[in-house]
Amino acid sequence: MIPTLEWTDEGVKLLDQPALPARVEYKLCRDHHEVAAGIREMVVRGAPAIGVAAALGVALGAKRSSAATAEALGRELDEICEALRRTRPTAVNLFWALERMKRCFAAHATETPAAIRAALEREARAILDEDIAINRAMGAHGAALLPDAGRVLTHCNAGALATAGYGTALGVIRAAVEAGKKIEVYADETRPYLQGARLTAWELLQDKIPTTVITDNMAGHFLHAGKIACVVVGADRIAANGDVANKIGTYAVAVLAHENNVPFYVAAPISTLDLTLADGGAIPIEQRGAAEVTHLCGVAITPEGVGVENPAFDVTPHRYVSAIITERGVARPPYGESLARLARSAEHDADAARTAAPGRRRA
Ligand code: MRU
Repeated sequence: MIPTLEWTDEGVKLLDQPALPARVEYKLCRDHHEVAAGIREMVVRGAPAIGVAAALGVALGAKRSSAATAEALGRELDEICEALRRTRPTAVNLFWALERMKRCFAAHATETPAAIRAALEREARAILDEDIAINRAMGAHGAALLPDAGRVLTHCNAGALATAGYGTALGVIRAAVEAGKKIEVYADETRPYLQGARLTAWELLQDKIPTTVITDNMAGHFLHAGKIACVVVGADRIAANGDVANKIGTYAVAVLAHENNVPFYVAAPISTLDLTLADGGAIPIEQRGAAEVTHLCGVAITPEGVGVENPAFDVTPHRYVSAIITERGVARPPYGESLARLARSAEHDADAARTAAPGRRRA
């Protein structure tokens, strides 16, 4: 698996996703401003990968800081977190990772700046490593939901490229294939940014998983024709009632799956849950620039002066979601109860780990 992002002595390396599939290149971010730009410009993208990049960005900002006292470092960290927080609004993993890094600082605030910097680096690298383990656990839980043989439709890219490795929705598919299931993937191209055509197709072909790209407006045709056994997608934020924010177009796929009695699964880590929101209505939806819609590979495909809308995400109401696959197990409706139960068990284990960690004060 080619790494999506890496901590190195020189800085944070990000696989340059806008260059894919034509070129496999890395961008080196030498400070947290460059990490923030990498998130904003979608060099790194996908909810879990954005969270990991933000954590690495905080650690890098602390490493580059010349603060001589813990208090001064704390004030700089607030600014670093604020710069990273302002990058993209929808994926809650970003805010989750920043909060975790702040808790790490609080737990070490009485130590020397050097010790705090070391602790922040350890924490960011732990977030990266945990993300891969979480995706494998999600895969193990989700693989059982997939048929022994058949076509799975996915939207956008919720794969290794959208995480530190292995993927969420594509992790479930990978785990099913590893278990011997004969899965073929149909990938929506995912206009306007083409994550399906450029990224999902690329990474699945690297793993030799049979993949067919379809344009977004073909999904209904194949669902109605009985060619799709189930749909698996990722998520950027899931509200307490199970409403799911994901890449624009997901809602339409979910409605079409429901209409055709095809199961619609969402695979996402616990860090994608936002139980502070009762439903999906309050999830902030990122609005992106018009050029993504008006141009293809730099060529204008619309007349100049035309109006353009470009919401990057939509919200799928929970009634269209058959199950939500997490690293803690599979949540079924009613999600208000099942998601809260999974989140509580994750919180309980995280508390126990913090208490048990030697030499660390509780945040
Ligand atoms: O705009 P993007 O490419 O960051 O959007 C990504 C998605 O919508 C993914 O489906 C989601 O983040 C889940 S990634 C495991």
